[in-house]
Amino acid sequence: MALSKITTKSIIEKKKKGEKIVTITAYDYSLAKIVDKCGFDLILVGDTLAVVMLGYQNTLSVTMDEMVHHIKAVSRGVSNALLVGDMPFLSYKVDKIEAVKNAGRFIQEGGAEAVKIEGGTEICPTIEALIDADIEVMGHIGLTPQKIYRFGGYLVQGKTLETAKRLILDALNLQNEGVFSIVLESVPWQIAKLITDNVDIPTIGIGAGPHCDGQILVLHDMLGIFTEIKPKFVKYFGKLGESITNALDLYKKEVEDSSYPDLNHSYEYQGEDYNKIIDWAESVDLEKESNLLKKKLEK
Ligand code: KIV
Repeated sequence: MALSKITTKSIIEKKKKGEKIVTITAYDYSLAKIVDKCGFDLILVGDTLAVVMLGYQNTLSVTMDEMVHHIKAVSRGVSNALLVGDMPFLSYKVDKIEAVKNAGRFIQEGGAEAVKIEGGTEICPTIEALIDADIEVMGHIGLTPQKIYRFGGYLVQGKTLETAKRLILDALNLQNEGVFSIVLESVPWQIAKLITDNVDIPTIGIGAGPHCDGQILVLHDMLGIFTEIKPKFVKYFGKLGESITNALDLYKKEVEDSSYPDLNHSYEYQGEDYNKIIDWAESVDLEKESNLLKKKLEK
């Protein structure tokens, strides 16, 4: 059955119908294509690519150009899911005009259909500017990894009365500013449920419990490819890291013991004059012939 194109409107509709929203990150063409074929609602080219694709220590190092490069690749593989680009550190907080220009690059150059930015009530003027420029925006509150140095690490947010209240108010302010959904990251499930029950737009949880309207995970985490850090909420739905290692070990072994490639994986010369090639190779001075060819091509 053909999948229908997902839009920000259809994502909001899903919440109204009580249907779960299934989302994931992707960073390259081939995996984005597989994800899209599975019928995911939304694909985020997350700034987590800094860590899982580029090997940076955290997300703060990834640049606009690197993000655009990956969004372009993903957009070539996606036909149905809503494609969201994650705005990197400092690309939207310096000033609103720069934020609009940078978000515009994700749309114009990258092929994204919306952008995600981290932040609560303090980021509302930027959201307003983006939406005024007709750019769809996804919010992100709770543990916002671009603030790890301020938070002092990857810590669960909203664990006290004051911080939980702040998260709820932030969510309402983001909704009122016009975001089409909000990522809730590393928030106690009871607070995530309260937020979910009090906003009309979908909440997309990551480490925020089962009551969010949808879920998101980092693709390389849930596939078991990136295993260096495993937050409590990460579940390995596959062991691709192990599968890849096994496949590589086998390939290495078969090349070393000459069992790969066999003739089934080789092209056969089917011309009638194979013997003439052998005769020629045996009769001429190959060194001299190759020098003659080189000189001929240099002319
Ligand atoms: O960058 C990212 O991948 C994200 C998700 C974890 C929500 O922001």
